Amino acid sequence: MTETVLLIGGGGREHAIARALEESDADLYACAGNRNPGIARIATEFETLETTNPKAVAEYAETVDATIAVIGPEAPLEAGVADELEAAGIYAFGPKEEDARIETDKAFQRRFMAEHDIPGCPDFETFDDMEAACDFIDEYDGDLAIKPAGLTGGKGVKVIGDQVTAEEGKEYIRDSDYDRIVLEERLIGEEFTVQAFVANDEVRTAPAVQDHKRAYEGDEGPNTGGMGSYSDATFELPFMTEEDYAEAVSIIKGTVDALEDYRGILYGQFMLTAEGPKVIEFNARFGDPEAMNTLPVLETDFLEILTAARDGERLPELDFAEQATVCKYAVPEGYPTDPEAGAKVEVDEESAGDALLYYASVDERDDGIYTTTSRSFAVVGLADSITDAEEIAEDALAVAGEEGLHMRHDIGKPELVQQRIDHVNELRGE
Ligand code: AMP
Ligand code: GLY
Repeated sequence: MTETVLLIGGGGREHAIARALEESDADLYACAGNRNPGIARIATEFETLETTNPKAVAEYAETVDATIAVIGPEAPLEAGVADELEAAGIYAFGPKEEDARIETDKAFQRRFMAEHDIPGCPDFETFDDMEAACDFIDEYDGDLAIKPAGLTGGKGVKVIGDQVTAEEGKEYIRDSDYDRIVLEERLIGEEFTVQAFVANDEVRTAPAVQDHKRAYEGDEGPNTGGMGSYSDATFELPFMTEEDYAEAVSIIKGTVDALEDYRGILYGQFMLTAEGPKVIEFNARFGDPEAMNTLPVLETDFLEILTAARDGERLPELDFAEQATVCKYAVPEGYPTDPEAGAKVEVDEESAGDALLYYASVDERDDGIYTTTSRSFAVVGLADSITDAEEIAEDALAVAGEEGLHMRHDIGKPELVQQRIDHVNELRGE
């Protein structure tokens, strides 16, 4: 029987999900707040709707007779879209509102790790009194990361000793209207992501990816949703050992065991410190951009994973092509603080050459595709080495040109990768 899959969300990550399903025997429908031209070309039908409105999503799912739904972004998860779909009798690959708290409530997330003795949890305190938080900063011996408890699109965290001083950190807390924050030990090391497919108490993990959160080259500037990312032809990254990867997987498995009945993607963001991997955060969905590294090398049929999850069967063992990937986002000039929309996107799926092109927040008009104020599109190179994959991605960016756009050319370049390796060696005293 052909499955009718409803994909929820219209970013680069969801374009990658759509591509993964395009190769399978699924009849794909999609809905999002923005019309993603890449997804629209693949899907049988694309509906523009508010994806944080669970009733609207479930009604559309019923209209198209969806047999499975895949929820891409965190906002619909937080809004309870999975719960509403289930109430309508439609299997959703994505956690219920309650389980999505592992991402949507960072205070819950830290307490959960502590209560269940999940390794890799940094020292932390949660606060709903902002003056008490400021006092804690004064008293704490060491640097702290300041984290709003709720969702901020990856842009709310301020790290003392890195982005801000203690005084600026306190000012940030006092000037904000956050009602709950987490203060936690500043972790020093290299970041990496491991994404896991989870259902029926089983976990299948994908190769590690390194995202680049800072807006400008050399890891300068404000935090963004992610400017680009790379993965290697192995499960580890060049600065990691197999043991580091295995430790991250065991933290994810411990978390899944403690969550009970979690389903969907569990994304672990880790800091590889001198003491091994520590958890920066969990997300309840694929990463964006990381999905664009992972799904193109996934050789197992994504639909097969979804149907096994729904039918209560064992998840298939996953096969990944032994290829490195480099993903680079083009974002509007001024992003994320003062983005300017309206630049014409001059690259398309054909002119991107050997690279894959994924559309994100763009606006399709009669005379072409234009940028909005969020990340515009990403290009992904696949090759035997990170260096070769990087060159493929750069060739596609050259076609796109830089008019009205900003990108980080340093992502995946040998110098930056080497810096990561040197950093970890230095931390480990090697
Ligand atoms: P998050 O929104 O939790 O992913 O945090 C955004 C970014 O802030 C992360 O990618 C890290 O670069 C940084 N960050 C978060 N928590 C910590 C921490 N405890 N120590 C150092 N950096 C952190
Ligand atoms: N790449 C970071 C995220 O998806 O949250």
